[in-house]
Amino acid sequence: MSGTLVTILSNFALRSEILHCQVGKMKSVQQEERYECMSLFFIYNRVFKTKRGLICYMQKQNKIAVIGGAGKAGRYVVEKALEAGYQVRVLTRNPKQFKAFYKHVEIIKGDVRDVEVIRTLFNGCHTVISTLGKPKKESFIFSSATNNILTVMNELHILRYIVVSGGSVDVPGDKKSFLNKMGARMFRILFPNMMKDKYKELNLLLESNLDWTFVRLPFVVEGVATGSIKESLRDIPGLKIYNSDIADFLIKQIASPLYIRKCPFIAN
Ligand SMILES: NC(=O)c1ccc[n+]([C@@H]2O[C@H](COP(=O)([O-])OP(=O)(O)OC[C@H]3O[C@@H](n4cnc5c(N)ncnc54)[C@H](OP(=O)(O)O)[C@@H]3O)[C@@H](O)[C@H]2O)c1
Repeated sequence: MSGTLVTILSNFALRSEILHCQVGKMKSVQQEERYECMSLFFIYNRVFKTKRGLICYMQKQNKIAVIGGAGKAGRYVVEKALEAGYQVRVLTRNPKQFKAFYKHVEIIKGDVRDVEVIRTLFNGCHTVISTLGKPKKESFIFSSATNNILTVMNELHILRYIVVSGGSVDVPGDKKSFLNKMGARMFRILFPNMMKDKYKELNLLLESNLDWTFVRLPFVVEGVATGSIKESLRDIPGLKIYNSDIADFLIKQIASPLYIRKCPFIAN
């Protein structure tokens, strides 16, 4: 805000403060002065209400919700989000995993299948990032979780959703190499339940009106970011990706419109 504007606003505020005290005496003031009093009083209220509104808005603009932030693909998402200046609220069934970040991260204990938990997780956030995996000894929950996530995002008017999936998911417009086409076919044969659930998840996104990005990953390896990430909308550009590089890419998508409603492949 420029200095001039601040001066004008302070003058209005000061004058209106005085006028506010005199409001009881307004009957005795001339008609013209009364209009001036009322308009200044109106501006004063607007200025202060707007300031409060602006602070709330800015707080909301800075907070993101993370699902699966302790998993293999998502391990560095919380750390990278903090580094980028975001406030982070993360969902986990086992909060002890986040001890190192405890002071700086809001941890919500719970299961992604619980809609009330998702409401608490998303409240006040402007973006949701999911690197959700499969719960051990249970079937796949990608589509059921997505259903909950999208429902609550709609309820809370949250638009931006960034989610990871596998490079074996085919999307119209892909131009996969023969080998990668065969790889995707093998996945459908070997892991039919997982692939059905992943396609169901993708269809839920396609049917939604949200600004989603469906990031398709190759094999994920544990390691420090290389900073060199290949991106493509046509084919898997490599065999592996370091989880730290995944986090960098996901955090960059928060403010980038490049892959909104798209399914980029990434690799090192
Ligand atoms: N790993 C790979 O090599 C690879 C390769 C390509 C694609 N991907 C894709 O990347 C995504 C993540 O895979 P990943 O290997 O990183 O998964 P993961 O390590 O097995 O699990 C990720 C997270 O999912 C969370 N989770 C599981 N069930 C949950 C539930 N019911 N409620 C809340 N959170 C739950 C866990 O959080 P808590 O334990 O903290 O609750 C866990 O930290 C998947 O879509 C996968 O297909 C992975």
